[in-house]
Order: sequence, then C-alpha cells, then structure tokens
Amino acid sequence: MKHLIFAIGFLLNLCALVKGENDELKKAVPKGFVTTRGTEFELDGSSFAFVGANSYWLPLLTTKDDVESTFSQMQEAGVKVLRTWGFNAINASELPGALESGLTYYQVWNNGDWTLNDGPQGLERLDTVINVAAKYDIRVILALTNNWVGYGGMELYVDHIDPGASTHDIFYTDSRMIASYQRYVKTIVNRYKDSSTIFAWEMMNEARCLGDLPQSAACSAASKTVPNWYKQQSDFIRSLDPNHMITTGGEGAFLYSCFVAYLIRLHLGHLFLKTKNPTLATDYNFDGQAGEDFSFDLTLPNVDFGTYHMYPQTWYPQLDFPGSNFSVEGWGLFWMDAHVNAANAAGKPLILEEFGVTGLANKTEIYPKWVQFALDTKHAIMPWQFGASGLKEDSGNRLIKYADALIDGASPNDGFAIYKNQTVWNVFAYEESNSSCRLIVNTFQKCC
Ligand SMILES: *[C@@H]1O[C@H](CO)[C@@H](O)[C@H](O)[C@H]1NC(C)=O
Ligand SMILES: *[C@@H]1O[C@H](CO)[C@@H](O)[C@H](O)[C@H]1NC(C)=O
Ligand SMILES: *[C@@H]1O[C@H](CO)[C@@H](O)[C@H](O)[C@H]1NC(C)=O
Ligand SMILES: *[C@@H]1O[C@H](CO)[C@@H](O)[C@H](O)[C@H]1NC(C)=O
Ligand SMILES: *[C@@H]1O[C@H](CO)[C@@H](O)[C@H](O)[C@H]1NC(C)=O
Repeated sequence: MKHLIFAIGFLLNLCALVKGENDELKKAVPKGFVTTRGTEFELDGSSFAFVGANSYWLPLLTTKDDVESTFSQMQEAGVKVLRTWGFNAINASELPGALESGLTYYQVWNNGDWTLNDGPQGLERLDTVINVAAKYDIRVILALTNNWVGYGGMELYVDHIDPGASTHDIFYTDSRMIASYQRYVKTIVNRYKDSSTIFAWEMMNEARCLGDLPQSAACSAASKTVPNWYKQQSDFIRSLDPNHMITTGGEGAFLYSCFVAYLIRLHLGHLFLKTKNPTLATDYNFDGQAGEDFSFDLTLPNVDFGTYHMYPQTWYPQLDFPGSNFSVEGWGLFWMDAHVNAANAAGKPLILEEFGVTGLANKTEIYPKWVQFALDTKHAIMPWQFGASGLKEDSGNRLIKYADALIDGASPNDGFAIYKNQTVWNVFAYEESNSSCRLIVNTFQKCC
C-alpha cells in the first residue's frame, strides 16, 4: 500500500512540475515583488516561505514611533509578511468622537455616499505603515473591506446605499454597492500599486453570505453569489494593477458534492481522523451555506493564491470532549490538509492567514504542530494575532475603539494575541523544512 501511495504521489508531483513550467510563461513582475510559481510563492527567483503575522491595529496607532517599534519587534521575531486592514470607515455621526480620540478613518459615510480622508488622521497613517514596513523588509497584505461591521465593513455600504435592506448579501449583487466598493478599491490600489511592499490585495476579510445582517435564501456557494463577486472584483483589481497578487481573504469554506468519496480517500493514509464516518456532509464549513467554494474560487484566473482561517473551538464546541471524534489539534490538521489538497489540485499557493485557540497552555501545545505541518506542506501560515509590547503613545494606555485598547504598552488582546514573553512566540521563527510530508499529502489531492 505504501508503495502504491508513493507511486501515485510521484506521478502527481510530476503533474505539479509541469504546472510549474507553464508558470514560467507568466508575465514577469518587477524586482522585489512577490509572485507565485506553481504552489509556492517566489521572490526574485527564489522560493519564499514564511510564518507571518496579523495586526489590524497597526494603522490605528497614532505615532510613527509605535509603528516603528511594532515592525522592529516583528522583524526580530522572524515575521516576513504582515496582514492588516486597508479599510477604516465611520459614519458621519461618529466623526466628532473620532476627531477627539484620534481614531484613524479613511472613509466617512453620510447621505448614502462616502468621502475620502487622505489626511494625517486618514490614509497618511496607512502610508506610514507601508513605509515603515518597507524599512524592516516586511511585506503587507491589505484587506479592502470586512464582512463584519468592525472598523466599517461592507454593511456600511448596505446601510447607506439601501437603508431599508434586510440582507447582508445584497452587497455582492447590487450594482450601486459594487461601484462604491470599487471606487474605494481603486483609491487604495492606485495609491500603492508601484510599491513592492504590498504582498497582495485581499478583496474582503471573511466574505460570507451571512454578516451582522441575515443572509437571503438565494445566497449559497451553489448559486455562486460570493464566487461570482470574487471573479468580478479580482478581474477589476487586475485591470488596475498587473503586478501584485490578488486573493480572497476568505475563511476557506468548501462545497463538497462528493464529500464521502473524498473522506474515504483521505482516510486511507491519515491518522488525524478518529472515525471513518464523521457527519461533515451537513457541516457549515463543507456544505456551501457560508457562500465560499474554496476549490472553485481558487480556479479563478485572477485569484493568485488561496486563503483560509481556522478557529476550531469556536466552530465546534464539541471538540476534545469525551466521545468527540476530533481533538482541537486533530481537526486543525484535517482542515489544513483539506486546503493543501485543494491548493495542490489548483496548482496555486496557500496561506492559513488566521488561526487561534484560547488559553496560553493550548496555544503553547498546539501552535508548533500546526505551524510545522504548514511549513512541511509548503504553505504559509500567520497566527491571529501579533502582540507588541512597550508601546508608548498615551503612556501606553489608550482605548482605540470597541474593546480594543493598548494596556500598559501591550497591543490589543482579544484572547488570541501572543506576546514575546510567551514560549509560543517561537513559532514566528520556524523555518521551512524539507520533510517528505507533501508527497504523501499529494496522494489525496483529487476530490472525485
Ligand atoms: C451607521 O449608519 C447607518 C445608517 O444610518 C446605521 O444603520 C449604522 O448602525 C451606523 N453604524 C454605526 C457603527 O454607527
Ligand atoms: C462522531 O461520529 C459519529 C458517527 O458519524 C456521530 O454519530 C457522532 O455524533 C460524532 N460525535 C461527535 C461528538 O460529534
Ligand atoms: C483549552 O482547550 C480546551 C479544549 O477546547 C478548552 O476546553 C479549554 O477551555 C481551553 N483552555 C482555555 C484556558 O481556554
Ligand atoms: C506577557 O505580556 C502580556 C502583555 O503585556 C501580559 O498580558 C502577560 O501577562 C505577560 N505574561 C505572560 C506569561 O503571558
Ligand atoms: C533534509 O534535511 C536533512 C537534515 O537537515 C538533510 O540531511 C538532508 O540532506 C535534507 N534533504 C534535502 C533533499 O534537502
């Protein structure tokens, strides 16, 4: 059996090599721009593997010194790529408070439309983040809006353009909302399109049919509401910028029409599954309800790599309980493996761009295993989220917005932040390994 698995793996690897060669026909990018080559990222001709970090709060810092300090801490930790928000929108009613508290904002919504703030409390703060990132040789993934209302996501477009709207997903099909979103995207993309510090554009953080508003019955992966939006927006961004990579920013939900067959194949070689028959066919992450179709979305011509997120305890409260079919760690490895298979099938790279578990002991135990598995399977990974310390603005104590605050110089902690004084911090320093794991994983890359 093992020999057969290796033989199949070898053949599939040959396929991947052929795919890699086709890639050479791709347009060359300017020096210093990260691009893709087959299933890997590439920088100036060399493979570019990394453990990255998330820090949505960096553009919300009010002093350049604290931005410098954060990037310096990231560089020291081994971080090469940062993911942050390229949006920060408020209602006009919030403006007086924002001016008083120093809150960063780029768009102000009023009377059904937004105006741009490209001043010192606006896009100049994002400029500072990009410029300082360059100084520390860290590249930046910018998300262009949010599925959730936090920091002014897509529902501000819905609320203001169609005030009576009762569904979240109207955003994906309403031509006025699409035009308004594209006007913002164009502003940001044009501002930084010559900068090699931009790693990639991300269409939205965690696009789903459902948001803070409910989803309509019409929205699903099968009806392609979100996939069609991904196609339209990725083509639009490509029309503005030929060089930077573009990705979804999605959580990586699947639409498995052949789920059982897939699982049986997967199970052949895998110890992660504790049962042969989990009931995932009606699972939110696999049945298309969420709106994404990870495997299909990755085939879109201007989606250059896949993204997915992972919060097993929030998604599956039954994990690790007596009688459960999965441990938190094991379910995570299963979810990662499923995405590696799909990305290999599409011949594109992959980033696990957010993951988290609660509790310091859980993090310390589990993160090294997930990070190692990602590096062994040649995909990039970034914990949610980076914890900076020693920040000085407002004496290190400042309420930013919502419950997000600097406390005694520490950056915001939503329960997932990891700080330098913790052993788990070492995961940022993990290097790519040369294990043969990927060959085995390749064996199961095809679903039906
Ligand atoms: C912003 O304004 C819209 C439209 O008036 C409203 O529905 C929404 O609740 C407001 N959001 C915030 C965060 O104030
Ligand atoms: C484990 O799998 C079995 C068989 O599919 C299922 O009946 C059971 O509900 C699962 N247990 C948990 C805790 O999810
Ligand atoms: C660690 O993980 C277990 C299993 O999910 C969970 O029950 C426990 O609450 C976690 N610990 C903390 C401190 O969050
Ligand atoms: C580490 O630093 C963070 C942030 O300053 C703090 O909250 C935490 O108590 C410190 N110690 C440990 C063991 O996490
Ligand atoms: C993989 O790593 C091991 C130990 O570090 C080394 O001996 C071996 O030569 C490496 N193999 C390849 C193909 O790089």
